[in-house]
Amino acid sequence: MKERLEELKQEALQRVREAEDVKQLQEVRVAYLGKKGPITEVLRGMGKLSAEERPVIGQLANDVRGEIATAIDTKQEQLEKVALEAKLAEESIDVTLPGRPVQQGGPHLLTKLIEEIEDLFIGMGFEIAEGPEVEQDYYNFEALNLPKGHPARDMQDSFYITEDLLMRTHTSPVQARTMKNHEGRGPVKIICPGKVYRRDTDDATHSHQFTQIEGLYVDKNVRMSDLKGVLDTFAKKIFGQNREIRLRPSFFPFTEPSVEMDISCKICLGSGCSVCKQTGWIEILGAGMVHPNVLKMAGFDPKVYTGFAFGMGPERIAMLKYGVDDIRHFYTNDNRFLKQFHNA
Ligand code: DAH
Repeated sequence: MKERLEELKQEALQRVREAEDVKQLQEVRVAYLGKKGPITEVLRGMGKLSAEERPVIGQLANDVRGEIATAIDTKQEQLEKVALEAKLAEESIDVTLPGRPVQQGGPHLLTKLIEEIEDLFIGMGFEIAEGPEVEQDYYNFEALNLPKGHPARDMQDSFYITEDLLMRTHTSPVQARTMKNHEGRGPVKIICPGKVYRRDTDDATHSHQFTQIEGLYVDKNVRMSDLKGVLDTFAKKIFGQNREIRLRPSFFPFTEPSVEMDISCKICLGSGCSVCKQTGWIEILGAGMVHPNVLKMAGFDPKVYTGFAFGMGPERIAMLKYGVDDIRHFYTNDNRFLKQFHNA
C-alpha cells in the first residue's frame, strides 16, 4: 500500500508539473483528491490492514493528499500569475501612440448666418414667424396682389403639386398668413426664415431650393424712413460699420413703392471694381411699403395701418460676406468647405 501511495503521489506530482492551465490542474485535483479518486480507493482498503499498520498508512495517505494539494495550489497560483501577466501584456495601452482625433462638427454656415440675422432683428423687436413650405396658391400669390394670370408670376417659376398647391416660391406668404392671424390689429413685427423652391436649373448662382428671410412691420405710422433705418442697421451689423446702403426704385406686386437695397462694395469701397461691375454697389435685397391691397386682403385697414416688408436670400449674403463663389457649395456638404466656417 505504501508503494501504491508513493506511486500515486509521483504520478499526481508529475501531472501537476505538466498541467498547462488552470483547467488541466483542476482535472488533476478531481482525479487524485476527489471522492472517487485512487487515494480514497486505497483508504477504503485499510480495513484489511493490521491495527499497527492502519495509523501508519492513514498518516501516509494524509501526507500524500496534503503534498498533492499543496503542489496543486502552488501550481495554480503560478498559472494564474502567468495568465494575468499575459492578459495585462495583451491589453496594455501604448500611451506614446498618437491619439485618433475626434472630428468636431459645427453648425452649417447658412444656419449660423440665419441665426445671426435672427438675433439682430430680435434685438430690434421683431419676432420669428413660420409658415408651410407646401403653400396654397392663394397665400403664395393671390394674397400678395398677384392674381391668377398676373405676368409677375412668371418671375417665380413654381413647382405646382395641384392647381392650388405649390412649393412656396418665397417666404412672403408668411406675411399674409401672420397678418391674417392678427385680425386687423397691429403691430405685426416679424421675420420669417425658411426654405423656398423654384423651378430653376442649378448653376453657380441658381438653386431649385434655397433659403429666404422675409421681414414685415405693420403698425400705425410706419414709414419708409423706418424701413431705411432697419435695413441700414442690418447692413452695418452683417457687413461692417463702414458699409453704406442705397435704395433704388424697383417693382414688386406686394409693395408700393418698391425698392431694391444695395450695399457699398467692400472691395473698392464704392469707387468701382469687377466685383460690383464698376458700379460701387452690390444688390442685396428687395423691399418696399406693403401694398394697400395686401393689407386689405389680410384684414388690415390701409387708411389706419401702413407697413414695410423686405425679403433677402441668406445664400447671397453668405456668398458676399465670405466670398463663396458657387451657391451649390451650401448644399453638397463637402466637409472641406463647411469646416472653414466653423469658427467664422
Ligand atoms: N418675395 C421676393 C422674392 O422672392 C422678395 C421680396 C421683395 C420680399 C420685396 C418682400 C419685399 O417682402 O417687400 O423675390
